[in-house]
Amino acid sequence: MSSAMVTPAATTVRVPAKVNLELLVGPARADGFHSLSTVYQAVSLFDDVTVESADDWSVVVRGAQASFVPADATNLALRGARALADAAGVQTPVAITIDKEIPVAGGMAGGSADAAAALVACDHHWGLRTRREELEELAAELGSDVPFLIAGGTAMGSGRGELIAPVLARGAFNWVFALAREGLSTPSVFRELDRLRGDAEVLEPVPSPELMSALRSGDAHSLAAVLANDLQEAAFSLRPELRECLDAGMAFGALGGIVSGSGPTIAFLVADREAALDLAVSLTASGAAADVRRASGPVQGAQVVTGPRALG
Ligand code: C5P
Repeated sequence: MSSAMVTPAATTVRVPAKVNLELLVGPARADGFHSLSTVYQAVSLFDDVTVESADDWSVVVRGAQASFVPADATNLALRGARALADAAGVQTPVAITIDKEIPVAGGMAGGSADAAAALVACDHHWGLRTRREELEELAAELGSDVPFLIAGGTAMGSGRGELIAPVLARGAFNWVFALAREGLSTPSVFRELDRLRGDAEVLEPVPSPELMSALRSGDAHSLAAVLANDLQEAAFSLRPELRECLDAGMAFGALGGIVSGSGPTIAFLVADREAALDLAVSLTASGAAADVRRASGPVQGAQVVTGPRALG
């Protein structure tokens, strides 16, 4: 056998979206971020990120919302690939293709998901076997949610959200996501929260024991009762119609509802798949939501879905 490099022709990584079951926001820090205590769950809405060796760095985005994603050097997947190349001393550029299903600027970490996928894809493509801690460090520099999207499952996030630890969660949960027509910028929602809080004292947040026990029980009714998001009022303040969407979903029979991350997507927890279908139909038929997606969680984080094919 020759010693020719065994490089996959193309590597595809599938990466999930996230919802925050609890998002508690502490004081603003000196670096401009807020300290957080959050519990993430990865849900079955996916982007596929494919990397192929090429003469130059590039990124193409495909899907209904592709035009809302920058296809230049600011693209988070491209930044992820280049960050790993720099860290590992790799000289070969990759062409990246993103098949996008995760709502853009929807509070579901679509951009962070692509960054996580690019790191995992390039690590595999270049045969680096980067240590998990090192990959997580690169991930954290790209965005607060990126380390979680590599890990997946259900996990606690602290710091600015980037320090993750797994959480014991039983069972599977069914979600309906109500999408808005227009995205919300995460920094603007945090700024609105600061404005609403004014001079009020804000304590360092800690995860609630009620949420942890609901997750251990695996019971959707218990979980629905303790969903919490400190960014919700700020998102409502910027987009009052989101409150109506949440109220409509609850009136249509959701067990619980919450703004997902910084919004504008609203996440509804339902009892089972049939309830998910019923709620999805009601939300769209009534016009309460521009569009809906059904998903379940938890699911695994960024995973290679194409095996390497040996060249040469
Ligand atoms: O790190 P990430 O890309 O998720 O952050 C996007 C923006 O959201 C930050 O630039 C910051 O304005 C805001 N943010 C924050 N506190 C956090 C996470 C994000 O203020 N813990």
